[in-house]
Amino acid sequence: AKTLAASNVASRIPPYKGLLRKLKEVYNVLGRETQLTLAEKILYSHLYSVEESLLSNTQSGKVVRGNATLKLKPDRVAMQDASAQMALLQFMSCGLPSTAVPTSIHCDHMIVGERGADVDLPASITGNKEVFDFLESAAKKYGIEFWPPGAGIIHQTVLENYAAPGLMMLGTDSHTPNAGGLGAIAIGVGGADAVDAMVDAPWELKAPRILGVKLQGQLSGWAAPKDVIMKLAGLLTVRGGTGFIIEYFGPGVHTLSCTGMATISNMGAEVGATTSLFPFTQSMMPYLRSTHRFDLLREVGIYALLSGEGNQLLRADPEALYDEVVTIDLSSLEPHINGPFTPDLSTPLSQFKDAVKINKWPESFGAGLIGSCTNSSYQDMTRAENIVKQASAVGLEPKADFFITPGSEQIRATLARDSTLETFSSAGGTVLANACGPCIGQWKRTDGVSKGETNAIFSSYNRNFKGRNDGNPSTMNFLASPEIVTAMSYAGSTIFNPLTDTIPTPSGNPFQFSPPSGLDLPSAGFAQGKPEFAPNPGVPSPDHPVIISPTSDRLAVLEPFAPFPAGELEGLRVLYKVKGQCTTDTISAAGPWLKYKGHLPNISANTLIGAVNAETGETNIAYDHYNLAESGEPPKSGIPQLAEKWKNQGKEWMVVAESNYGEGSAREHAALQPRYLGARVILAKGFARIHETNLKKQGIVPLVFDNEGDYETVRAGDVVSTIGLYDMLRNGGKGDVSLKCEKKDGEQIIKVRHTISKDQAGFILAGSALNLLAKKEGT
Ligand code: F3S
Repeated sequence: AKTLAASNVASRIPPYKGLLRKLKEVYNVLGRETQLTLAEKILYSHLYSVEESLLSNTQSGKVVRGNATLKLKPDRVAMQDASAQMALLQFMSCGLPSTAVPTSIHCDHMIVGERGADVDLPASITGNKEVFDFLESAAKKYGIEFWPPGAGIIHQTVLENYAAPGLMMLGTDSHTPNAGGLGAIAIGVGGADAVDAMVDAPWELKAPRILGVKLQGQLSGWAAPKDVIMKLAGLLTVRGGTGFIIEYFGPGVHTLSCTGMATISNMGAEVGATTSLFPFTQSMMPYLRSTHRFDLLREVGIYALLSGEGNQLLRADPEALYDEVVTIDLSSLEPHINGPFTPDLSTPLSQFKDAVKINKWPESFGAGLIGSCTNSSYQDMTRAENIVKQASAVGLEPKADFFITPGSEQIRATLARDSTLETFSSAGGTVLANACGPCIGQWKRTDGVSKGETNAIFSSYNRNFKGRNDGNPSTMNFLASPEIVTAMSYAGSTIFNPLTDTIPTPSGNPFQFSPPSGLDLPSAGFAQGKPEFAPNPGVPSPDHPVIISPTSDRLAVLEPFAPFPAGELEGLRVLYKVKGQCTTDTISAAGPWLKYKGHLPNISANTLIGAVNAETGETNIAYDHYNLAESGEPPKSGIPQLAEKWKNQGKEWMVVAESNYGEGSAREHAALQPRYLGARVILAKGFARIHETNLKKQGIVPLVFDNEGDYETVRAGDVVSTIGLYDMLRNGGKGDVSLKCEKKDGEQIIKVRHTISKDQAGFILAGSALNLLAKKEGT
């Protein structure tokens, strides 16, 4: 069996002493009387320079929240297998021998759920072998802890091994905030942001506002931690948390299990929050003990429990002010069912039957799925087990197909040891691999439901967008706690209320479930699981080769982008004028393209295919005004095809767009792909902030119309030169820029604005942020 290397153990304890020192600096800058929330304490104690990030705001009289740009140094990075590919390829291009912060990779997204772990896992490993081999080999070379396929879902593995009160980490997955259940600030980001931390470049975040959720009372009966976030999602809606960190406080916090708090934090992603977190509570100590994290337990004990100023790090100040406060009474909370198609359509269980009738939702459902990163704790599973035992005792079997996804090998092995899995299997349940499976669309349904067929399923997962689980946009996915999903699976009916309704047993007697009971933690601690699922030691082996086949169509080494030319840009072609919304999904579509995430040339064939042509109203139809056909007409083609044609002709180009260009996600492919195909400038009415930063990191210049009306006049076929851009870049972002636009009927000067900082000017001149770093490293 592999044992944890000493270096791994040390890297799993946040640097509490240093954080406390930084926190003192924070109070010095903000004023000793300042009262801080826990989120602020953790974030600000991870600043590179407290003065640089906080002082200018306070001196100018601005409050930090919502204004300051924080330059942060996270403690660690975690990546899932799909997003890790491009992040690693970018990291490799810097030529560093190891990652600057402890990093881990988790192979969970590419494993199918179909017939059960024993069959599905080997098949998925074979199907994705080249990707797993690449990730493992790169992990060995750079000292990254590699959790192989079958080891578990990233967020569950992080909770069990890396999450810690006061930790700040980045994860390349939306549900990274799961670690907030153990008092960490854990933020979901794109691969390029993870690379910032891995190369020790400051990771920038606009100081979030803090939304306080005050919990009162105590859960009882059927109500579960999941219901807290299901109710909150209904109150806040999917956008309500944007720009906020959700911080839980109040007496109810101290009644929750650590894993229950993780479930609640996990789904903060569903309301758009930057992250969610809980303060230190006593329930964290037995969780750390059960997961065998004794060194961390000792440290947390010192900083959380002993008296003195040290214990101020892991809790909010008594008079801390929140920007907004929502109160939830746990004692009166009832189970909720959210969906279909959006996680904020929240219905209390007692009203769900009526909702089904009113909305004409299906009255039967075909599958109940429990587990996943959201809800596979010991508490969740033993409460579900209790429901199954109640039903089995009276001879009932689930009417719907019943699937169980353990979140990690540790939880699977523990549930196997304690016979919980046996209970599920004997009742007809299928235990899937310790991986995402149906939660990320990797579900091969075998129940004959065809695509387009309206049907319903219940899951204890976190997301329920159309097509999320089985690729069928007509599948209505209702979210609920594992115990509710399990109980309802016995009725197979959406109008069954397990709290009040009965099911006839085989002998004809009506049976009603009692409220479930379970255990927060296994009395014998967690089992370690199979040794082959343990991670490698996080020690770099510089001579280890990184395995990428030159003939692979899924992986390709990244070639550095060319630096900015020594002078103004001239002869830029307008590839496309986009009409309306242009999200990162419009620029780099997901779905089947995800397969090519590690192969920039191949995935670039989806560039902008969702964009609407402002001049013709067509989608993904571009016209080559610069290479007219014999008829004199511009030939038409798909956008990526035209971009590639120009790339091969050595011609650079630009895109013209409307407001909020690049909204949606931090997907770095949306910046990498246009850059790869030859884009130099994006000219828009406005940009989504994260995408604008990503463009600059990849060496593309984002420019904003000074006069939005000029959007109307620029057309495909114009030839554009920059005026003042080169000088502005050389002056570290200072100076005016305009564009000279040569049109068929004359010339036009367009005034533009930009937000390019000194650092970012350096990225653009070098060709990309990573080029600049590689130059500094002398590679
Ligand atoms: Fe995402 Fe996997 Fe959880 S898909 S939501 S990390 S189970």
